[in-house]
Amino acid sequence: MRLDKFLSLCGKASRSETLRSVRRGEITVNGVPARRGDCPVEPDTDTVAFRGETVVYRPYTYVMLHKPDGVVSATEDRLAGEPTVLDLLPPGLFPCGRLDKHTTGLMLLTNNGKLAHRLLSPARHVDKTYAFTVKFPLSAEDVAALESGVSLRNADGGTDCVTALCRVELTDCTGRGAAGRITLHEGKYHQIKRMMEARHNQITSLARLTFGPLVLD
Ligand code: URA
Repeated sequence: MRLDKFLSLCGKASRSETLRSVRRGEITVNGVPARRGDCPVEPDTDTVAFRGETVVYRPYTYVMLHKPDGVVSATEDRLAGEPTVLDLLPPGLFPCGRLDKHTTGLMLLTNNGKLAHRLLSPARHVDKTYAFTVKFPLSAEDVAALESGVSLRNADGGTDCVTALCRVELTDCTGRGAAGRITLHEGKYHQIKRMMEARHNQITSLARLTFGPLVLD
């Protein structure tokens, strides 16, 4: 394996950072300064040190991130200079799915593409639970409609699709709006926002609490 790939897999440095560190003499392989970023290393037997610390080979990295408000999760959505979740993390990781800019909570970031694919596959119906607040009250009829499936509108105002069965639990409906939890078994674009809009309501906050077996710490 190439040295730059090894360091990126271990979450230590990107390819360009490896090059810079090689030039500065910050990387050794078996005690000898590396001379090229692409030099071959044997992960199981060679000892690679980065800035004086031995790098333990871990082919996969998993990060449970509590995404803050205002950070985009997909690099293609960002405006120039806007922070993305990747700016919060070691290089080489990618987000497993996405959350809207103003949704907070659990995101899994990894470099294990197979696991990400399994968790995101629509056929697997991996559950995701979110805590939400909405601007207006939610009636028992709203809850029943959300649970049994609502029609989502596309950009032209036509019907895009009908949502699958889900679970909605109200935790507070005493004020002007309402708060609750919703568990989806699918993941459509802006799904919860659009589901509430289908009931003439509006999300005021959204936070992901679980993703499959993972529960936000
Ligand atoms: N549904 C939404 O509307 N937004 C999210 O970020 C996640 C689910």
